[in-house]
Amino acid sequence: MLNSETKFDSFNHQKSELTELNSKNNIPENNILFNRKNKIDGITLLHSLKAESVKVVFFDPQYRGVLDKMKYGNEGVSRGKDRSSLPQMSFETIENFLIEIQRVLKPSGYLFLWVDKFHLVEGVKSWFNQTPLLETVDMITWNKEKMGMGYRTRRTCEYLVVVQKLPKLAKSTWKIHNICDIWNEKVPKTHPHSKPIELQKVLLQATTDDDDLVCDPAAGGYSVLTACQALKRNFIGGDIQFGE
Ligand SMILES: C[S@@+](CC[C@H](N)C(=O)[O-])C[C@H]1O[C@@H](n2cnc3c(N)ncnc32)[C@H](O)[C@@H]1O
Repeated sequence: MLNSETKFDSFNHQKSELTELNSKNNIPENNILFNRKNKIDGITLLHSLKAESVKVVFFDPQYRGVLDKMKYGNEGVSRGKDRSSLPQMSFETIENFLIEIQRVLKPSGYLFLWVDKFHLVEGVKSWFNQTPLLETVDMITWNKEKMGMGYRTRRTCEYLVVVQKLPKLAKSTWKIHNICDIWNEKVPKTHPHSKPIELQKVLLQATTDDDDLVCDPAAGGYSVLTACQALKRNFIGGDIQFGE
């Protein structure tokens, strides 16, 4: 058992490691910490990172569009109560996130962008009008193995668009070659939009090395942080509503 002095020493040691990591990556001393749940606006967090410092970004926007669709499409508002209580992102907000993501990504770094079926079929290309260095290179369908809502068909899948910052390079940037583009994984519900940790882990193993920096600027239930901790990747991320 740790006595209070040892606990304090270990806390100080951890804190100084974080400060070192922060200063190495030019993070200003504004309480944004690595490998922590930061309660912060994602754009502010991205602004504080230096250009070309991040190997991989996961971005899971809180879409306004889904709720709008559901109003005249599939569901009554009451059934989407958990989702509708979260801060929503407008088209402009998503574009601003992408501009910052383009800036902080290293050349040939990856952005994994979660989209729902409405955005998938109607297209997300216009979101990238201001980010010409970001190009779509692949897509993975996540089968949640759980029946969701819908008056017509019941939602079971979400989609992960794989985007790469130029220059586009496949072989030298992707180490695992048996990842299928349909991924089955059930997740425990820690957040209304929890994403699959095992899928995110295998993608990190494919595209990053130990100690690489991984960013999730709208982290929700922090599934990307959990994946990073399991793999010894450095995480910088936060959420406007969830964090310490
Ligand atoms: C779809 S959820 C993310 C879920 C996450 N991928 C997970 O696995 O748990 C989107 C999150 O974006 C957050 N959000 C909305 N606007 C934001 C902003 N401007 N900055 C940071 N987070 C924001 C919401 O609070 C919500 O938790």
